[in-house]
Amino acid sequence: MSQATSKAHQQAGSLWSSRMAFILAAVGSAVGLGNIWKFPYITGENGGGAFVLVYLACIAIVGIPVLIAEVMIGRRGGQSPVASMRELTATEGTRKGWRLIGWNGIVASFLVLSFYSVIGGWALVYVFKAASGMFTGADADAIGGTFGGMLASATDLLLWHSVFMAIVIFIVGRGIRSGMERAINTLMPLLFVLLFIMVGYAMTTGKFGEAVSFMFSPDFSKLTTEGILTALGHAAFTLSIGIGVMMAYGSYLPQKVNIARTAMTIAVLDTGVALMAGLAIFPLVFANGLEPGAGPGLIFVTLPLAFGQMSGGVIFGTLFFALLLVAALTSAISMLEPVVEWLEEHKGISRAKSALGGGLAIWLVGVGTVLSFNNLADFHPLAFIPFFEGKTIFDLLDFLVSNLMMPLGGLAIALFAGWAMKRQGLDQEIGLKGGVYSAFMFVLRFLTPAGIAVVFLYNLL
Ligand code: PFF
Repeated sequence: MSQATSKAHQQAGSLWSSRMAFILAAVGSAVGLGNIWKFPYITGENGGGAFVLVYLACIAIVGIPVLIAEVMIGRRGGQSPVASMRELTATEGTRKGWRLIGWNGIVASFLVLSFYSVIGGWALVYVFKAASGMFTGADADAIGGTFGGMLASATDLLLWHSVFMAIVIFIVGRGIRSGMERAINTLMPLLFVLLFIMVGYAMTTGKFGEAVSFMFSPDFSKLTTEGILTALGHAAFTLSIGIGVMMAYGSYLPQKVNIARTAMTIAVLDTGVALMAGLAIFPLVFANGLEPGAGPGLIFVTLPLAFGQMSGGVIFGTLFFALLLVAALTSAISMLEPVVEWLEEHKGISRAKSALGGGLAIWLVGVGTVLSFNNLADFHPLAFIPFFEGKTIFDLLDFLVSNLMMPLGGLAIALFAGWAMKRQGLDQEIGLKGGVYSAFMFVLRFLTPAGIAVVFLYNLL
């Protein structure tokens, strides 16, 4: 579209250097704690197979179409999510209400980073723990104790949350391209290799078959309505969609890149990493008599056990948590991007100052999550509503962003791209032709919104 070429980023020449660079950055955003930390533990909590099946269906019906639509909107708008949506509502002649998509994005990416950074801090400490050799020969109780001890100390968690945020602020403050492409380029493939090694190790535990059937033979009696909502939310969370992050990244995407093909690549890689993480972790869970539904600590108590038993475990363990940290950082960076882009454009604040100011505010909100694992572990702010009874500050933030703001943002994006935008030239912009394009539009216009709506109605009734 020639109109997009006139937009800010395209003019300023601050585009991704190539399709590959964009894929790396988008995969960097998508692949993160969501795949390796969250996917296994929510799969465990929701009983395995049936949850995984619903999750995969959500990726296909909601995740991929919304990812395509969001990147397309970002490239057409060519600016921060808020500015892009303002521009597009004008040029496409739609209602102004659609601009809420941009605002939802700024608020949600702000909130998600506040708790993501705390978990990123866990990955950071575990690099040092693994390197110290403390897992070597340790049993499940000792390793569980180490994790529990870490959570119990508010000052430790706060320190690691602070270090993690400082790194994010530093990288984002330096600008979108420098550093990031290079880091993702070399470290992401290494993460894949290491996951393969972990799956290979898991095969030697004798419980691989049990894990495969846990993950892939669906038992629908174990699936709750909240579990279905969690699966939908996670499909959005893991692909970083619905809150403007992919829109912000799309705004730097060169016009010649095929969006549909690129989005498929991102989704396949992202889903592959999550499934591999599950296949690495569940055999260990069963082999060591651990509880699959143990919650957010799952990978921090299972993987160290494996590293403690395998030869070369100190090296593998250190490398694994270092790569998990990098995966977390490349996702965290993408969450700060919409906030910074907005501060730069709307408030005229320099990139470095925007990153610092925005980052500090996010850090402050993150203190609530830090405390929800220790001093405020018994504080349930919405206890008066039965559904939220046992939820801590962290649980509520995660629920609000992952299960509400991201899927609803995704719904709005699907409706905007499918119904409100002009159809002319859209096939070219997306990079699909003929029947495939028609099929895609059918999914985006009908199946995606219906899928999201059904999950929400089901949960409300
Ligand atoms: N997709 C990331 C992960 O799976 O870890 C998390 C994430 C990144 C969520 C960016 C939201 C976001 F905007």
